[in-house]
Amino acid sequence: MKTVAVVGSQWGDEGKGKVIDFLATQSDVVIRAQGGNNAGHTLVVDGKKYALRLIPSGILNPEAVNVIGNGIVFDPKGFLKELENFEEGQVHHDKIKISDRAHVIMPYHKELDALSEEARGDQKIGTTKNGIGPCYMDKTERSGIRICDLMDKDIFKKKLSAQIIAKNKIVKNIYGKEELFDFETIYNEYLGYADKIRRYVDDTTVIVYDAIKEGKKVLFEGAQGTFLDLDLGTYPYVTSSHPISGGFAVGAGIGPNMIKDVVGIVKAYTTRVGEGPFVTEQDNEIGETIRKNGHEFGVVTGRPRRCGWFDAVMVSYAARVNGLTSIAFMLLDVLTGFDKLRICTAYKMGDKIIKNFPASLDDLAKCEPIYEELDGWNEDITGVTDFDELPENAKNYVRRIEELIGVSVDIVSVGPGRLQTIVRRNIFEK
Ligand code: GDP
Ligand code: IMO
Ligand code: MG
Repeated sequence: MKTVAVVGSQWGDEGKGKVIDFLATQSDVVIRAQGGNNAGHTLVVDGKKYALRLIPSGILNPEAVNVIGNGIVFDPKGFLKELENFEEGQVHHDKIKISDRAHVIMPYHKELDALSEEARGDQKIGTTKNGIGPCYMDKTERSGIRICDLMDKDIFKKKLSAQIIAKNKIVKNIYGKEELFDFETIYNEYLGYADKIRRYVDDTTVIVYDAIKEGKKVLFEGAQGTFLDLDLGTYPYVTSSHPISGGFAVGAGIGPNMIKDVVGIVKAYTTRVGEGPFVTEQDNEIGETIRKNGHEFGVVTGRPRRCGWFDAVMVSYAARVNGLTSIAFMLLDVLTGFDKLRICTAYKMGDKIIKNFPASLDDLAKCEPIYEELDGWNEDITGVTDFDELPENAKNYVRRIEELIGVSVDIVSVGPGRLQTIVRRNIFEK
């Protein structure tokens, strides 16, 4: 079986898009299985930058089938707009498949996302306001509209009209607004999308299953990251889906025994967008330097990302809950020029030493990082393609992290481009 799951091991934006694009050159199928266009995955190919949000990052490999799985919340307007970013002939439309079981993001989901954030005031989550949470709420409440519903105009009409009544009641009675949503407008707009996306809609569970059974190379593309997972992340400052490796079984509709390898995408430092505690945060000159060198601004919202030192407590937890078999260590070049680098090896809470990432955010907020200090390097590493050619201190940094996490670093990334990648072991051949 040649299946590889790629998961974010921190708070998202670890460089998943780059690794997926890199591995996609060897893959037959690439699948997104959770989240929606809250994701922003960057690919840099031949010096050109592509920001993907919903379309799988295998799209630039003409051979790969790109699947949007049943676990996705699908924004048709966003999807069609994203397709426009590609040039004529660059995308093979017959190789894009959208699950008929995926849920559809409607205009009221986006509106309710914004209203609920506003109502939370200083308790806000800092969502991307793409309607992700409200769409998953409808899914779990069992009133959501799925792609298969959208494909049938009578079923869609029935389900949508019930939802318009329900959502107008919410905006009026909870948020004290005028009834915002008009059935005819939304119905006609979405029938237009239905016509445009029909060619892509399929039972993707069959496509994925058959590919795995035929021994094809199948890549599962994680969005968000372990600490944004609804169950295992820093709740409530999380997203509403399961970015951990277990999420792929549900979100792609396969058995968990069909996922062979799990690659954790790990940033050489830590970043976070949105609210919530962050133990190794550097709200100072160090954080500024990392943000500047790493261009740490959100792909989706443009918000500056919060930056801090590498946290081995977090990544060890991610290794455990995802069952990581490999690490791709990203953005190492961003740390060039620091005299000393710090790695957080444990937390101190009062007089207690904590090695396991805590559940309670109150506890987390009380945790102080315990750091180990390593020497930095000044050499430009952005052209290095062989691990042995890295400066000794850069190698020591990677090796120390490998030792602390207990998972082998099989890929080291030294720049955003496809070729700026050091491969220590071929992940598909592991
Ligand atoms: P994703 O959401 O995990 O796919 O990551 P994002 O695309 O949101 O953020 C990662 C950013 O880092 C993007 O701008 C990438 O182009 C960039 N990037 C990825 N790998 C490297 C690397 O090794 N070095 C540098 N300097 N940038 C990288
Ligand atoms: P990629 O795939 C970083 C964060 C938001 C917010 C929280 C909830 O590019 O790594 P949501 O809109 O999902 O309800 O927002 O989750 N968030 C991300 N942060 N990278 C992402 O995706 C994210 N997707 C959501 O900032 O804190
Ligand atoms: Mg991103």
